[in-house]
Amino acid sequence: MSRLEGLTAIVTGAASGIGLGTARLFAEEGANVVLADIDEQLLKQEVDNLQSEGLSVTRSTLDVTKKEAWAHTVQCALNTYHKIDILVNNAGIHRPDKLLDTELDVWHNVMDANATSVFLGMQQTIPHMQQLGKGSIINIVSVAALTGSGAAAGNGTAYSASKGAVRALTTHAANHFAKDQIRVNAIFPGPIKTPIMGERQKTIAERNKDVVPLPPYYGEARDIAYGALYFASDESRFVTGDELVIDGGSVR
Ligand SMILES: NC(=O)c1ccc[n+]([C@@H]2O[C@H](COP(=O)([O-])OP(=O)(O)OC[C@H]3O[C@@H](n4cnc5c(N)ncnc54)[C@H](O)[C@@H]3O)[C@@H](O)[C@H]2O)c1
Repeated sequence: MSRLEGLTAIVTGAASGIGLGTARLFAEEGANVVLADIDEQLLKQEVDNLQSEGLSVTRSTLDVTKKEAWAHTVQCALNTYHKIDILVNNAGIHRPDKLLDTELDVWHNVMDANATSVFLGMQQTIPHMQQLGKGSIINIVSVAALTGSGAAAGNGTAYSASKGAVRALTTHAANHFAKDQIRVNAIFPGPIKTPIMGERQKTIAERNKDVVPLPPYYGEARDIAYGALYFASDESRFVTGDELVIDGGSVR
């Protein structure tokens, strides 16, 4: 039996990488999926591709930093599939700037895209989940929230801080909305080969050999999608506020 049969999911940042891998897996497991992303062109291309395979998916252009855009995507899900069971807050950006070099606009951009986005996503979807009587929210964080990302080198100051905020937001919402049967869980990916790494994708194995014990020293989008699938399905019905690290063993 398909693990998400009859459920509707919104996945943000779904035109690429982890979001696309998660949307595909959810649809393969029987969910109706709204793929949402700011990159309209890439989104159309990927959704057309999934639809041509017969999967039940639609698309909604979304800038996760904008409240009105969220309202539009939520309405798209309700108009098309009549309910929202699952939200995957995955969209995000990375900037390598070190603390002393981080311009204020870079700080705000990263906080908006990675943290304010999750706040807005929850605020816009939870009332519909309350009406439904259940829901599952999955926040894609990062091991950067646990390690301070590139701590020794000092890279990615705003990125680490934004992910730390999402970690706390996950625990906060999990506690508060458990009474409504809404579960909120977080996944902490280690190095995953996706376009967010830019050129660094090419040398990912070499760069991570010393910190990731498990070959091939990096993960693929599908490795994170399988974790999200567990949190999305009823198999995890007694699990909330959980922190699943998927990183080849590097943070332990
Ligand atoms: N790849 C990794 O190694 C890694 C590790 C830890 C955490 N993560 C997290 O996983 C998530 C997905 O990253 P990925 O590796 O798949 O990257 P990616 O660059 O392949 O995908 C990110 C997607 O988010 C979209 N996006 C960016 N800003 C947006 C906005 N304002 N509104 C809507 N969509 C927006 C992009 O268009 C893109 O399609 C991010 O939150 C990232 O921080 C990734």
